[in-house]
Amino acid sequence: MTAIATYERTVVSAWSPFDRWVDGDETAVSDSAKRGFELFTGKANCSACHTGWNFTDNKFHDTGLPTIDLGRAILEPNNPKALYAFKTPSLRNTLYRGPYMHDGSLATMEDVIALYESGGVNRPSRSDNISPFFFTDRERDDLIAFLKTLTPEQQDLPLPTLPN
Ligand code: HEC
Repeated sequence: MTAIATYERTVVSAWSPFDRWVDGDETAVSDSAKRGFELFTGKANCSACHTGWNFTDNKFHDTGLPTIDLGRAILEPNNPKALYAFKTPSLRNTLYRGPYMHDGSLATMEDVIALYESGGVNRPSRSDNISPFFFTDRERDDLIAFLKTLTPEQQDLPLPTLPN
């Protein structure tokens, strides 16, 4: 029992600022990040695919990323929407996971947002949830501030010392 309690304390300390905000702590994230969350679920439509606790629908979509990789179409050759479609990744801890996308073709989070703003390559397989939108510099900063709240400040958690 003591071991489990010790472990659970570690897990709680690994909560991200976003989780603490959802849990009711209004001071856990900045106003900029709160505006970014509005954009994420609103104008930018990110939550159409990056949804739920892990920020993924676990489905396959063509995001419009310029690529020659066939993606899901290898397994579903008769599904026109499977072409260039890849599985939605979680957005938790993304800050330390660049470069981004299945082929690592986007170096920074700014590059990822620029792709979504442009709508990427407009082709028949592209998801109906992807379409160009315009961000001001402040909106871009706000969205990145929000994405940062999905990573716990403390990345390298020391292993708890367990009683024998
Ligand atoms: C149509 C569904 C869809 C929408 C809408 C969408 N995404 Fe994605 N996202 C994906 C898929 C699928 C991938 C993986 C693409 C790949 O690997 O080529 C991805 C990849 C990413 C990645 C890279 C993660 C990694 O680990 O490589 C980030 C960051 C991201 N999306 C953020 C966003 C943001 C921010 C928005 C809103 C502006 C958004 N997404 C909108 C489906 C979507």
